[in-house]
Amino acid sequence: MGFTVTEKSLSIFAKEAKIIGEKLSKICENRRPKSLYEPCQYILQNPGKRLRPFLVLAFSQLYNNNKSKPYNAALAVELLHNFSLVHDDIMDNSDTRRGRMTLHVKYDLSVAILAGDNLLALAYEYLLKDCKGDRGIEAAKKFTQCLIEICEGQSLDKDFEKLSNVTIDEYFIMISKKTAALLKMCCEIGSIIGNADKKAISSAAKYGYYLGVAFQLMDDLLDVTGDEVEVGKPLGSDLIEGKKTFLLLKSLELANNSDKGKLLKLIKNNGISKEEVQEYKNIYERCGTISIAQNEIKKYTDLAIKSLKNAANEKIKKTLISIALHMAKR
Ligand code: IPE
Ligand code: IPE
Ligand code: MG
Ligand code: MG
Ligand code: MG
Repeated sequence: MGFTVTEKSLSIFAKEAKIIGEKLSKICENRRPKSLYEPCQYILQNPGKRLRPFLVLAFSQLYNNNKSKPYNAALAVELLHNFSLVHDDIMDNSDTRRGRMTLHVKYDLSVAILAGDNLLALAYEYLLKDCKGDRGIEAAKKFTQCLIEICEGQSLDKDFEKLSNVTIDEYFIMISKKTAALLKMCCEIGSIIGNADKKAISSAAKYGYYLGVAFQLMDDLLDVTGDEVEVGKPLGSDLIEGKKTFLLLKSLELANNSDKGKLLKLIKNNGISKEEVQEYKNIYERCGTISIAQNEIKKYTDLAIKSLKNAANEKIKKTLISIALHMAKR
């Protein structure tokens, strides 16, 4: 598309990410009981990218030159994101996230379930601080609708583990809900709180949605091609858990007979062992699905960038373009 990631554009993101990280680590300070807030504090003091809160801040400024930034709403979406991750790690049997022990492994299941619930309640506490008047209600409704969609997407993700006939269209519905809905909502509520008009909110929603689809495709891809230390999660987890990822579904369409037999074995057994991960990565490579996934990521990234064409603030627009390109190259 002729755009490149510039260090300078990304530094605006990095600067805000640092501020958000500092504010997050203060949320649970001085709250009791320790049994609840220590695990919440542990999860909030993580080295996450802070992409979602940055989107709220960026879109609050993109169409109107607002002076005050909605940091509370930004914290709210990161709290919601962390709630979903704590429960996701229980559902996906994941032991490691962001290079650290997941909450249910470090503590136990009850602690992790309740800490997740509390993060969600805290998310609303912070959201409502920035949601006043009619526009505030509009933003809060989007937030709630998004939470419902995430739960629906997560439910489909779990249902698909047991199904043998999931289509690629169904996969896209599932990731639109479990992942893209959140990025979309961040861009929408940022614009709403920033008092943008209907047309701007709809462009914002498109950017978030396309970025979100690209993001989950990338997450699926990194599960087999990523660097374990950089990604902070063990490689091959989706294969081990029998997740219906883009790579698996596309490979089923393209595999030769012997590879197809192995893919069907994975589906029948609801996953594979850790020792078989490399063999399945080789199958994906033979089927050409790794590069097909890369092309899909590029397609959605370009769509995200295109939806920024009417943005007024050039500096933020450049940052959002750089973020889309950077996320697609992770
Ligand atoms: C992980 O999101 C969950 C997915 C939607 C794939 P991130 O990769 O943005 O997680 P952090 O917050 O940066 O750790
Ligand atoms: C994440 O999907 C979606 C949500 C947490 C809602 P994944 O299960 O693929 O995310 P990771 O790979 O555990 O981060
Ligand atoms: Mg999951
Ligand atoms: Mg997971
Ligand atoms: Mg994943």
